[in-house]
Amino acid sequence: MPTLQENLHRWSQFDFDQAEAWSEEWGGTENLWWSTLHPRLRHLLDTGVLLEIAPGGGRLTQFLVERCSRLILVDLSESSMRACRQRFAAHDHVEYVLNDGLSLDAVADGSVDLAVSYDSLVHCEIDVVEAYVVALGRKLVPGGHAFLHHSNFAALLDPETGEGRPNHHWRATSVCAGQVRRLCLSAGLECTHQELIGWGGTDLTDCFSLLTRPTGERRPETRVMENPDFMNEARTARAYGEVFSPAGG
Ligand SMILES: C[S@@+](CC[C@H](N)C(=O)[O-])C[C@H]1O[C@@H](n2cnc3c(N)ncnc32)[C@H](O)[C@@H]1O
Repeated sequence: MPTLQENLHRWSQFDFDQAEAWSEEWGGTENLWWSTLHPRLRHLLDTGVLLEIAPGGGRLTQFLVERCSRLILVDLSESSMRACRQRFAAHDHVEYVLNDGLSLDAVADGSVDLAVSYDSLVHCEIDVVEAYVVALGRKLVPGGHAFLHHSNFAALLDPETGEGRPNHHWRATSVCAGQVRRLCLSAGLECTHQELIGWGGTDLTDCFSLLTRPTGERRPETRVMENPDFMNEARTARAYGEVFSPAGG
């Protein structure tokens, strides 16, 4: 179980210059953005206040920074905030918040149009996910959205024995899509869509959840889709990138 302390320890020592390696299956971060993240986020971008939770070295941030009028980056590791300050120094509309791994208190209530977190909360257990979902219930503007990439690993475990699939990618074992739906309900949010994805294989270890703070009456239904072939996106993006880039072939 990756605890908050273990996350702090691991990421405080991490050299975020190495983070590009996480995009290798896509053939690079630009391919990851255009093939996987942009198609899922595009309707939400070009917005006012964008909050990114756990940006690390800014691998995704580099594509978000021009798509909002104000960008707030929140991370628990000093090395992340240092790397981002350096990387986005030319952008006056970016703010950097070093937090305790749970709180969004530095962000004004009812101020966030879009919150995004990718490839970070998958390593965070339910205490952390709950804290952020509850906080987002207050921080989002009515009609605002959050796109959260989190673990679904708890759904793969036998509820009696706690045993299940091998956990190759350090996924949080206490989080699943159903729990996030329930957290949203108690936080006054709607969880409108969930995509269960196979990360590095076909077991549905991860989930992309789309949340919104409703403007009127809440609709309790969530559209849930299963995408065990998620990694095909990466392979296809990589193949096209290799063949059709000017330097490719
Ligand atoms: C695997 S890196 C990913 C960074 C970035 N999202 C990317 O895709 O390149 C994980 C990041 O999450 C941050 N993190 C982990 N747990 C956190 C928490 N509870 N609250 C805020 N940040 C957290 C770490 O400090 C680190 O910067």
